[in-house]
Amino acid sequence: MGKLKLKKDIAVKGIIVFIILVVGIILGLNFYNDYKYKQTFEYKLIEHGYTLEEAKNLVNFYKKDEILNALLIREKNSYILELIKEKYYIHNNLDRYITYHEKKPEFSNTDVIAIVNVYADYKHYEHDIETDIEKGILLNVNKYYTLPEDFTPIDISDISLRYSYSGNKITKEANDAYVSMWNAANRAGFTLIVNSSFRDFASQDRVYNNIKASSGMKEADKVAARPGHSEHQTGLAIDVFEVGNQSTETFKDSPAYTWLKENAHLYGFIERYPENKEYLTGYSFEAWHWRYVGEDVAKIIHDENITYDEYYAYYIENQS
Ligand code: DAL
Ligand code: ZN
Repeated sequence: MGKLKLKKDIAVKGIIVFIILVVGIILGLNFYNDYKYKQTFEYKLIEHGYTLEEAKNLVNFYKKDEILNALLIREKNSYILELIKEKYYIHNNLDRYITYHEKKPEFSNTDVIAIVNVYADYKHYEHDIETDIEKGILLNVNKYYTLPEDFTPIDISDISLRYSYSGNKITKEANDAYVSMWNAANRAGFTLIVNSSFRDFASQDRVYNNIKASSGMKEADKVAARPGHSEHQTGLAIDVFEVGNQSTETFKDSPAYTWLKENAHLYGFIERYPENKEYLTGYSFEAWHWRYVGEDVAKIIHDENITYDEYYAYYIENQS
């Protein structure tokens, strides 16, 4: 009887110790998991004011610790969640997106992204960046990106008088592509003709200043680049019309322009200053100004319906 009681006591104590151990392990694990969770960005973001869903989205989007840490330093802002859904979102521009949105709430998120990406949150000619001429046929020149005064493209050659008025030159690669495009347009029933192409710094200075003298600076800036800012200095741009239709007023309504819009990218050319994109390009619509960028890039720009400025920001500058 005494032995049996002893055994029972030991068993009871054993069970108690076991239960304590199990409870201890469970509590320990819970504590550990809790501690681990508190180390996560999801928890920290929730503590910072984001909802669980917002925190999860941010963590999924921003895989890098440094970026998530940067979000924790910044005031909670749900607008970031809207921005990161945008296709051309560039993280380095986040502060400028937020500032621009606060200043101009009437713009859509897509526009805010596009405007900031192309530097159009800065005033024209007040944020000069020396363009990277190593980019070759992809170099960008606009009201922000500049070319040195002495920049002359290598291997520029005359465009044959069959396809152009006299005195027009572009780089060999662009010239060959233009001839292919000219022939295709010709088969489609259009006789294209180039009336302006490479212009060095001094010629661009004359073009700009002539317009400025006759129409004033505001008007000149809508239609002409200041010297050092013109794509014509790259040797990659052509002003193309159709024989018999060389009016800047009417060319936009011509079937030849429609043909160019649909086909120029197949030969590596893009429309550089499209209609309704003045707020990005800085120039009035120019149906005649086509820029050579090569077929692959031209296809992306055509298919995604973006300006070269947007392309350059997202696909070139952002990747390097
Ligand atoms: N007309 C274009 C914008 C230029 O002057 O370069
Ligand atoms: Zn032009």
